[in-house]
Amino acid sequence: MKAAALFDLSGETALVTGASSGLGARFAQVLAANGASVALVARRRERLKTLCEAIVANGGTAMAIEADVTDRAAMMRAFDDVQRAYGTPTIVVNNAGAAQSVRALEMSEEEWRRVLSLDLDSVFFWSQEAARRMIAGGAKGSIVNTASVLSFGVSKGVAAYAVAKAGVVQLTKALSLELAFKGVRVNAIAPGWFVTDINRNFLESDKGQAMKRAIPMGRFGAEGDLDGALLLLASKAGAYITGTTVVVDGGQVVALA
Ligand SMILES: NC(=O)c1ccc[n+]([C@@H]2O[C@H](COP(=O)([O-])OP(=O)(O)OC[C@H]3O[C@@H](n4cnc5c(N)ncnc54)[C@H](OP(=O)(O)O)[C@@H]3O)[C@@H](O)[C@H]2O)c1
Repeated sequence: MKAAALFDLSGETALVTGASSGLGARFAQVLAANGASVALVARRRERLKTLCEAIVANGGTAMAIEADVTDRAAMMRAFDDVQRAYGTPTIVVNNAGAAQSVRALEMSEEEWRRVLSLDLDSVFFWSQEAARRMIAGGAKGSIVNTASVLSFGVSKGVAAYAVAKAGVVQLTKALSLELAFKGVRVNAIAPGWFVTDINRNFLESDKGQAMKRAIPMGRFGAEGDLDGALLLLASKAGAYITGTTVVVDGGQVVALA
């Protein structure tokens, strides 16, 4: 089998949340470049539209869907829209998320619930709906969730985010177990630090640069460093992989252990 055939996504329908910037924008581009029709989901419609135009200009197929992932009615509309346009999504990447830095003693109930709602609850509900539709459509499917190195370790000020991302790893395992026999695989990618809107200010600060020096490979993740993990988990190259979290972090988690 040639590598290109193993990773070919022609005929697949992908839905990527948090596709308006950062890692999700790249995920959408990579899935489209390898043959999938891709629905890009986020709140910033203009950004989604611009990215769709770039994907189409490169010969891909893409549509923009404006939705807040914490809004269940918007979620149902998003799935309906993509299904009408391209058929049942067979690859769903739950990537929308936001970091937050608040010390535990200062955390309000509202803030705690906001982070958990976005970074964990939405991953459950979008996975649940994706799996229901994949099973109803008789399609084999792959769900890929974005976890984090903070799924495995903590630093000060990240209690809610780290708990949510640890939850994503456990959720990935729990769903994989219930869905394996139904033909739906569920895996996660745990990125180390990649400079995006979520963390640019921090990673470019003195503290961030010190963190960079502590990464065994001596650098932050670069554009493209997650492409291989995504394609492995989304394609038939990963046909027998489920319940796993692929850590892509330049050795950061190993160094923490
Ligand atoms: N960058 C890193 O170092 C790193 C490391 C580990 C894990 N991660 C995870 O990777 C994922 C992507 O982060 P990123 O670094 O690419 O940051 P980013 O550039 O800020 O992207 C976050 C994405 O999530 C979307 N989003 C946020 N809240 C949303 C909501 N309520 N509904 C719909 N979409 C929403 C944003 O779109 P809109 O604002 O347009 O809605 C945006 O597209 C997140 O889950 C993050 O926790 C990132």
